[in-house]
Amino acid sequence: MKITILGGGGFLGRKIAARLAAEATLGGRTVTGLTLFDMLPPPAPAAPFPVSCVGGDVVDLPAAAIPADTDVVFQLAAVVSAQAEADYDLGRRVNLRGTDAVIDACRKLAKPPRVVFTSSVASFSGGQGAWLPDDARQVPANSYGAQKAAAELILADASRRGFIDAVSIRLPTVVVRPGRPNRAASGFFSGIIREPLLGLETELPVPDDFAVWICSPRRATDWLLHAGAMDGAPLGLDRSLTPPGLSVTVGEMLAALDQVKPGASALVRRVEDKTIAEIVGGWPSGFAPVRAPALGFAQHESLVELVRAFVADDLAATRAERGLV
Ligand SMILES: NC(=O)c1ccc[n+]([C@@H]2O[C@H](COP(=O)([O-])OP(=O)(O)OC[C@H]3O[C@@H](n4cnc5c(N)ncnc54)[C@H](O)[C@@H]3O)[C@@H](O)[C@H]2O)c1
Repeated sequence: MKITILGGGGFLGRKIAARLAAEATLGGRTVTGLTLFDMLPPPAPAAPFPVSCVGGDVVDLPAAAIPADTDVVFQLAAVVSAQAEADYDLGRRVNLRGTDAVIDACRKLAKPPRVVFTSSVASFSGGQGAWLPDDARQVPANSYGAQKAAAELILADASRRGFIDAVSIRLPTVVVRPGRPNRAASGFFSGIIREPLLGLETELPVPDDFAVWICSPRRATDWLLHAGAMDGAPLGLDRSLTPPGLSVTVGEMLAALDQVKPGASALVRRVEDKTIAEIVGGWPSGFAPVRAPALGFAQHESLVELVRAFVADDLAATRAERGLV
């Protein structure tokens, strides 16, 4: 089985690549080749199969990014929320036209590949208190969410036409993001756990009772890999799924942090930021997914396990990347 990860140099792209390299199978089939594509050629993980690393622009995809015999494409390349809101042209170009370019590239392949697309909670609105069922309408409250919702639609239509076999996963906010803070509006949800665990102060732009729909990198990776291998037939025309994340308050996240490292939450300073609060405040605080669990998407682990997983998987690498001893 040949696999491509577009956005393979990013946070989740690298997690998926590492899991594939370690397990060398997907859905019981042996992985025989992996192509990682990003703006710059991503680093290749050590793997028991050939890994090719390609650099370029997803809007102008080089043929080498999706070789002719590719079975599964993970389309993760994107401009993230705050940046897409700040730069309308860039967000629309990468998030809309980039996904369109992926469809065109896949149409040229010998057989329609599975395309796993990372959509987002940000394609919905409703704000604090909204608890949405699987069939809730996507009414985005920012450009990033609108671009994700539009991309879901064109991927579903390309599936109906038989060009591709798409599964779109509407990811919650993934916490804890390792490394440095990024330009996602949701970045502080990771910051309030990651930075104190590094011994650093950080800012919290929303109140402690603010509720958010999150998932761990481990669970996001499980879900995306499951989406790469699952039987697509039960999806019918509706190729989009909301996986079973966790609805938690910021206060609950800080309590879990203190359970793992007593007193760590004292490093979190409350600093109101109206721009960030407005973007994340538009997202629903919870979902009631029924379809994805019935299709084998794993349930979420507890908040304390999520914090411990960051310590086990990413804290040392984050420390090293940021030159902290
Ligand atoms: N991390 C989250 O909380 C979260 C939540 C919901 C959805 N998502 C979606 O999941 C996907 C992966 O998220 P992530 O956190 O790994 O993001 P990331 O920013 O770490 O990775 C995205 C990658 O896309 C690449 N990219 C951007 N523009 C490109 C272009 N023009 N050509 C080629 N590559 C380009 C970037 O270089 C980056 O490596 C994204 O599509 C994101 O929108 C993420």
